[in-house]
Amino acid sequence: MAYLGHKVTCIDSDEKKVAMMRAGKSPIYEPNLPELLAEAAVNLRFTADYAEGIPGADVIFIAVGTPPTATGSPDLRYLCSAAQGIGEHFDGAFTVVVNKSTVPIGSGNWVGSLVRESYEQHHGRKAEKRFSVASNPEFLREGTALHDSLYPDRVVIGSDDQRSLETLYSLYRPVLDQTFASPTYLPRPEDVGAVPLISTDLASAELIKYAANAFLALKISYINEIGMLAEKVGADISQVAKGIGLDARIGTRFLQAGIGWGGSCFGKDTAALVATAREYGISTPIVEAAREINKRQRERVVEKLLGELKILKGRTIGLLGLAFKPNTDDLREAPAIDIARKLIERGCKVKVHDPVAMERFQHEYPDLNVVCCREASEVLEEADAVVLVTEWQQYRELSWEDLVSHMRSPIILDGRHVLDRARLTRFGYKYLGIAG
Ligand code: UGA
Repeated sequence: MAYLGHKVTCIDSDEKKVAMMRAGKSPIYEPNLPELLAEAAVNLRFTADYAEGIPGADVIFIAVGTPPTATGSPDLRYLCSAAQGIGEHFDGAFTVVVNKSTVPIGSGNWVGSLVRESYEQHHGRKAEKRFSVASNPEFLREGTALHDSLYPDRVVIGSDDQRSLETLYSLYRPVLDQTFASPTYLPRPEDVGAVPLISTDLASAELIKYAANAFLALKISYINEIGMLAEKVGADISQVAKGIGLDARIGTRFLQAGIGWGGSCFGKDTAALVATAREYGISTPIVEAAREINKRQRERVVEKLLGELKILKGRTIGLLGLAFKPNTDDLREAPAIDIARKLIERGCKVKVHDPVAMERFQHEYPDLNVVCCREASEVLEEADAVVLVTEWQQYRELSWEDLVSHMRSPIILDGRHVLDRARLTRFGYKYLGIAG
């Protein structure tokens, strides 16, 4: 938003984060984010104080976390406190309060009532038509967040109030019309034209977010289910994915077979969709099956290693990649953590490496008893098998040929189906895929 020319004040209750951002440092790893922060600095302020950011704002985005709880429903504590903080501090000039956080269907109305109550309590007068709530779901992917924000496939805005829709329309105008100057490090792709705007009621926008993520999760689990069959019949799952994906009705994206999805979104959002449906007395067997298959994919790693090594106790297993996917240091729901735990339970010694998530890993999982390697090649040293968990580009480019002799037994389990089987086999590796 700041890059597009809007004046933006970012509020976070975590003073440490605010201090970092003020110093131009991003608290997360995201390609090109530091460059963009520097370029947009004139339009950006960071504060931990609501009073500095809320009064006078035309639009307030709520972008707090909504982490999952044990029941599958998201934890809405932060959403609640943000809505109350807004109500307390906003000065009564018309403001659009936008839910950017992924929230259960119906939360827009709830946020509205929280803002209203808080405003009335602190100002001693009715909020009436001083604000309205909109939903503007997020479709960006970690690792390609800037690209997805500047060149999105579509923008969805939902509100039951026409004025809010118009405000958001003008806010997104530079993206919709693609009139902004592209950053030099992120040129506009040639096929990007005008971006479609979907303008809906509040509930539809909220449902679009969950339905989109569940569908993408489903696609991944579908190809993984077919992958299990492919292995049995001796088919090549990558070719199968290509062969079906080129049917435009299916599409080639999100058909990459492997360990399955991780991250903070698909697991949480499919769980929330199932939980919401249940509240309405509806079952969602397709989404539940997608979740089940995803869980199974992680277990397959252990099964495959066991099948090959016969005994896991006392073995050394190397994991290449910790982040839930390349180009991020995000470890939430990362398959690597789960897999490391399972292998340790089986009595293995586990060695790990990640190009950017190592520090975060050591900070967040100090008790996980693994050997952290500074170089990817160290993971292979004396290992009985190595699993490619996250498909970082540098792992594709490892000097595999030289490293084969460093392993105790040169078994490579390609958890993402990205390595060249024929080449590795030629170097003397025993190559295993998750499916075949
Ligand atoms: C996902 C959605 O793709 C975004 O559109 C959405 O905005 C975001 O969630 C969100 O709700 O905030 P993200 O979780 O950042 O984005 O990452 P994805 O690129 O979707 O990858 C998710 C997981 O699926 C990764 O672990 C990835 O390795 C896995 N994946 C992806 C596959 O196993 N196969 C594929 O073909 C694609």
